[in-house]
Amino acid sequence: MSTSASTLTSPRKRILSGVQPSGKLHLGNYFGAIRQHIDLQDTGECFYFIADYHAMTTLQDPQVLRENVQDVALDYLALGLDPQKASFFRQSDVPEVTELTWFLSTIAGMGLLERAHSYKDKVARGITPSVGLFTYPILMAADILAYRSHLVPVGQDQIQHLEMTRDMAGSFNSTYKVDLFPLPEARLDVAAVVPGVDGKKMSKSYGNTIDIFAEGKPLKKVIMSIVTDSTPLEAPKNPANCNVFALYSLVASPAEKEELAAKYQAGGMGYGTAKTLLLEKLEYFFAQARARRKELVNNLDYVEKVLQQGASKARAEAQQTMDLARRAVGLRR
Ligand code: ADP
Ligand code: TRP
Repeated sequence: MSTSASTLTSPRKRILSGVQPSGKLHLGNYFGAIRQHIDLQDTGECFYFIADYHAMTTLQDPQVLRENVQDVALDYLALGLDPQKASFFRQSDVPEVTELTWFLSTIAGMGLLERAHSYKDKVARGITPSVGLFTYPILMAADILAYRSHLVPVGQDQIQHLEMTRDMAGSFNSTYKVDLFPLPEARLDVAAVVPGVDGKKMSKSYGNTIDIFAEGKPLKKVIMSIVTDSTPLEAPKNPANCNVFALYSLVASPAEKEELAAKYQAGGMGYGTAKTLLLEKLEYFFAQARARRKELVNNLDYVEKVLQQGASKARAEAQQTMDLARRAVGLRR
């Protein structure tokens, strides 16, 4: 049989990404991933989902999982995800991806999975691995291939998973002599690594995050805790080495950024002043999203409807892929 991806996929580029509901979203997530997801809505056919199956590998409290999924849905919609432009859904509302995970697991090499950095890192941090954690990249490949996606906007840490996905897609196509899966490309955002309050990469696992939707006193407290060096107030300072300045650069205009850099270099300004400016800019930058989130919290039925509608579009696509995949492997005529 011959199955051509090109005759079945839409002529528009298909863009897909997932976000794990594993805690409150922070500035690293926004500038490293969410912002580009939202910007890409106008450039192709987008599928964005909340990776709740993936979260099960590390989160085993059902109440917390439910809350986190709702939080991510609210966050994305508040930050500008437009359900008219992108299909937005829960991963587990498309159970076909678990079947595709099985198909791919029969062609993925053990060696390929054993080389996964994120798996090795988690084991090195002392997590006793489950089989699910080990096969996590196969589930991720199934997410991408179920919708025969072309472009996957992700952060640096996911690049290897994309390479593994390409490997599995190529093996499937060549083993079964079909052209079912396009080889997806990764897309990185410009903000490579957002620093946390301690200057290390901002990450939930380091406890150094600034949450996107923090405000008021808690936000002030975390901003004031950003680590700076001990250059005295009156001395000139180097903005390039400063965590406060790095974060300010993400939310300020180029002119504001230059103005603050000049103040650093002139001396006579303490880090406390820079932190206050950062706080004001952050409040301003996310003001609209915060207001929108408060409205959405009072409209959870709407949020659920968006997820259901997104899932039904996504599922139709995944069912079509699985129909072809079942025929390709010989489970169906
Ligand atoms: P965390 O490290 O807090 O657990 P995740 O691994 O869930 O964050 O990351 C979700 C997405 O956000 C990924 O695409 C990741 O690359 C991006 N991301 C996370 N932290 C940062 C950061 N500090 N700078 C840039 N991108 C980041
Ligand atoms: N593994 C990704 C992360 O931790 C989340 C994810 C799951 C994903 N499936 C995906 C990202 C498919 C892109 C495409 O950030």
